[in-house]
Parts: sequence; structure tokens; C-alpha cells
Amino acid sequence: THTHDATEGSAVPAPRRRRTKLGIVGAGAVGATLAYASLMRGAAQTVALYDINGAKVRAEALDLAHGIQFMPMAKVEGSDDVAVLADSDVIVFTAGAKQKPGQSRLDLAGTTIGIVKTILPQLVEVAPDAVHIMVTNPVDVVTYAALKVSGLPPNQLFGSGTVLDSSRLRFLLAEHTGVAAQSIHAYVVGEHGDSELPLWSSASIGSVPLLQWRDEHGDLALDEETRERIATDVVQSAYRIIEGKGATNYAIGLAGTRVLEAVVNDEGRILPVSSLLDDYYGISDVCLSVPAIVHAGGVGSRVEVPMTEAELAGLRASADAVRATARNFGF
Ligand code: 2OP
Repeated sequence: THTHDATEGSAVPAPRRRRTKLGIVGAGAVGATLAYASLMRGAAQTVALYDINGAKVRAEALDLAHGIQFMPMAKVEGSDDVAVLADSDVIVFTAGAKQKPGQSRLDLAGTTIGIVKTILPQLVEVAPDAVHIMVTNPVDVVTYAALKVSGLPPNQLFGSGTVLDSSRLRFLLAEHTGVAAQSIHAYVVGEHGDSELPLWSSASIGSVPLLQWRDEHGDLALDEETRERIATDVVQSAYRIIEGKGATNYAIGLAGTRVLEAVVNDEGRILPVSSLLDDYYGISDVCLSVPAIVHAGGVGSRVEVPMTEAELAGLRASADAVRATARNFGF
């Protein structure tokens, strides 16, 4: 008798999938949701979570792993040993101080910078080639401090910045105009925080300049008053969510996933991420969000979007606010 092996004699190799490893620092609401979003979207084939709280991180990893049957193929690991992140392609940093109702993001700088100083050197050791995406607040100050602490080249470490704020802006514009958020192009730039601003003059809705968009009565849909209301709404969004549920996690989980996908898939997507600026309209030596090309190497060219004098003044003021906080903490 002989057993029949269907593959006998066949030289066809099993198809090989490029395995991508995503490392996440912090298994709190943001880290866990980002892991969930990345798994659901099949963004990486290995998702590794690291947190100093071993029981929590193992529980989150197990809960996520139990859902793998219903998601694209992946592996989930969780540990309080930083070695779990070894050889990650991308590491997303979500560990930090938690924003309490009434606190601004800038109030969190001291605690979060301390955490970055402890953990980041270990990350660079176990995953020297990883692209680092900082999500922890105040993200612009934290990104700047992280670059100084790690000595990593500025393309290899950047922050999620105003990708989230821009999606909030597009959501509000979609509500106001009845056009899908996906068909609206509009960026929030500057600090991920109180001094940020929308770039109205370059925004467009299905190729129509946003400032010329008309409602069904033929009136301009986005007059100054409406624009101001929407801009304020974007800034207030996180405060309102924190009042209600203590943290924000779903939208940042998706926004962070979108950014890391641009890296692992080498997409060249333009995203308003927070990176070290070097003479961007004369602004230097500060991490701030402006539209930039995101690819496998991390952040590439910053896009010089045409701006009005007022927009440029707003961006400069935002740069000054972020720089002042960084200086306060010795950076
Ligand atoms: C957010 O904007 C709090 O930075 C966090 O949702």
C-alpha cells in the first residue's frame, strides 16, 4: 500500500506573503483600539503589544487573538517585556499620561516625556530599523523630544499629528454640505491641540474650491461664521468626548492605522503628520503637522500647500506655542 500525497511531485511553492510586524507601546484604550483596527484592516500580519502592566497587556492580546478567526490572517502577542517588539517594521507609541476632563494636551508633557525617555531607547535597541509613529500627547512636543532622545533621523520618527483633526473637520464639513467625507479634501495643520487651524483657502469639495461651494439655494455654504463654528468644533471635539467617556479611542485608532498603513505599504500618501520642520515657509526646529508624503521610509517631503497670509500667521503662532512648551521641558 502507499499513501497518496496530493503535493507529491509538485514543485509549486506555497505562496509567500510579506509578513509585516506592527509594534504597539501601551495597551490602554488607544493602543488596544489601534491594534483592533489594524487587525480588522489586515494592516500587519503580526501585532505585538507592549505595556508595563503585564496582566493587562496579556489580557488585551488574548482578547484580540480570540477574534482572529473573523479577521484577515494575523498573529497577536502581548508582553511586559519590550523584546516582544523585536524587529517590528513600525512601532506606534501610545503610552503616556491620561488627559483628565479640563486638562489640555500640553498639560501632559512632563509625564509623557518621562515615559518616552525610559522606553524609546529600548525600542531602538530591539527594532533598530522600525519607523516610529508617536501618538501620545502632546504629540508635537513628544515627537520633538523623542527625536532628541533617540537621535533617530527625522524621517524615521514622526507623530500622528492632525490626521485625526482633519478627519473631524471632514466629518463636520460632510454633515454641513451633505457630501461624503471621502470627497472632501481639507487639512487641519499646526499643533494637534488648541492652536491648530484648518487650511480653508486650499480645501476642496469634489474639485470645487471649498470657499466657492454653494448650497441648494445657490448661497455660499461656508461663509466666515460657519467656518469659524466648524473650526471651533474641531478643536473642542476631544474635550467633549473626554467629558463624556474619559478618553478618545476609536477615531485615533483608525487614524493611527491609516498612517501606519501608508508606511508598511509604501503608499506615498499625503497625510498631515507631525514632523520636524526645516524651513517650511521659514518655520524650523519644531515638530508640527503639515501635509507630508508618508512612505516606507517614514515621512518624506513636506508639501508646501499655498496659504493665505492669515493661514501662515496662524501656523507660525502654532509653531511658537509648541516650541515654547518644548523649551519649558528643556528641549
Ligand atoms: C484626541 O484628539 C485626545 O488627542 C486626543 O482625540
